[in-house]
Amino acid sequence: MTALFVTLEGGDGAGKSTQAALLEEWLQERGETVLRTREPGGSDLGIELREIILHRPGHIAPRAEALIYAADRAHHVATVVRPALERGEVVVQDRYLDSSVAYQGAGRTLEPTEIRALSLWAAEGLLPDLTILLDLDESEGRRRLDASRTLYDRLEAEKAEFHQRVREAYLELADAEPDRFLVLDARRAPDELAEDIRARVEELIDR
Ligand code: TYD
Repeated sequence: MTALFVTLEGGDGAGKSTQAALLEEWLQERGETVLRTREPGGSDLGIELREIILHRPGHIAPRAEALIYAADRAHHVATVVRPALERGEVVVQDRYLDSSVAYQGAGRTLEPTEIRALSLWAAEGLLPDLTILLDLDESEGRRRLDASRTLYDRLEAEKAEFHQRVREAYLELADAEPDRFLVLDARRAPDELAEDIRARVEELIDR
């Protein structure tokens, strides 16, 4: 049993949920108890907040948007993530505070350092042990989304420049914390990506 907090980050359409599912399966085969979760929407309150933030019609002021993601995070960490880590489980989570820094900080051009501070306050300082960044060019992400469905949520509907800023912000975050991040080219085959992810997680489990 190893308490470990792994997050997956990247643009929409990068393949985060596919990799989260493959990682969960592999960890379970190794006998780990896994909590697979996501933000926004990984808690009871979060399900309601997710609906508001992604699908409520009409404008939401950027600072209000940042605060709703932070509220979702605060409740999720306090009621779901921390208890699981305290039970010695591996938490595999789709999106966490780096999403806020990239989307609200760089995408919405709020101040990234302030957004990071807000997120850390919400999460009482909890940082992941490992963050997997599935890096994908904006146009390729868009192509994949178009192929999979027709309805965009509030963030997906943003312009190409928004998503380019998000991608650049992610890469800067990874540069700033090379020990926490594993950056992978999301164009590679899913099973190859899964293998690289397993190798890195294995090091953390056996440490
Ligand atoms: P996600 O659940 O990954 O979308 P989907 O299920 O459609 O693949 O995330 C929903 C959107 O929320 C995504 O476009 C990114 C955005 N987001 C932020 O802007 N800030 C945040 O802090 C988080 C967690 C997500």
